[in-house]
Amino acid sequence: MARVTALRSIELGVTDLRRSAAFYGECWGLRPVAQGPGFCFLRATGPDHHVLVLRERPAPALIRIDFAAASPLAVRKLHGELESGGVKVRAEPGPLEDPGGGYGFAFVDQAGREFRILTGVAVHADAADEPDRPRKLSHIVLNSTDADADSAFFLNVLDFRLSDQTAMMEFLRCNADHHSIAFARAGRVTLNHAAFEMPDWEGVMRGAGRMKENGHALEWGIGRHGPGNNVFAYFIDPDGFVVEHTADLQRVDEVLHQPRTPQAWARPLNRLDQWGFAGAPSETILNAMNGAGQA
Ligand SMILES: [Fe+2]
Repeated sequence: MARVTALRSIELGVTDLRRSAAFYGECWGLRPVAQGPGFCFLRATGPDHHVLVLRERPAPALIRIDFAAASPLAVRKLHGELESGGVKVRAEPGPLEDPGGGYGFAFVDQAGREFRILTGVAVHADAADEPDRPRKLSHIVLNSTDADADSAFFLNVLDFRLSDQTAMMEFLRCNADHHSIAFARAGRVTLNHAAFEMPDWEGVMRGAGRMKENGHALEWGIGRHGPGNNVFAYFIDPDGFVVEHTADLQRVDEVLHQPRTPQAWARPLNRLDQWGFAGAPSETILNAMNGAGQA
């Protein structure tokens, strides 16, 4: 079975491109790498050509999520497996016209979300950590009306592995990162949040400081999650999308790791993070995580 090897990027529909590009470029810590009428591609400090694409739209919307595969052969194998499994595939694998290029195809899952599997996208030769900027897209959490079915699709068809389950969420990995994607039992199909990896939790603090200086409230954090063990700081972007600076995400040993159950993740201390420091998420961010404003 061919495999998805990594989460690459996320594409969002935003209502005011200039405003969103300024937010992600000047406050969040990304940098524009390609811009044109109605779109802006932004990179992190790592080698990925871009980790975020903004496209101007009448309403905020999750447009698509891109994953990486190792080679054109792996892309073609995955395409064949999806197509023969009855998954709606947009077209045959082919070269992309996006900035950064590459080769791949798009498919649509049972909930109507679009994903792409790509290989050969341009990489930056100048990748180097900066203390207060994201190095890559860490993970995406998707709200789901049927998280069990969404999780099963990723496990069985795309060969993701289950890292952990809680009463709320299914955490799935495609490499050693504890989760690249997670599905939240939420009663709707929207984006819950997108997380960007900082070099360490000093970086999470520095990023939070820059956000605060720019007038963006910390809506939840700073804390350390249970599943994944990652440090987090959550903010809301100009269109109401929730974004997370994160660090220290657990690296999973494929052989030794045993997924834990919702019972194992019950919270005996009634804490919402390991440190007991973050407290409860704000009402504002709970609504934003629900994706109420998204098309
Ligand atoms: Fe997260």
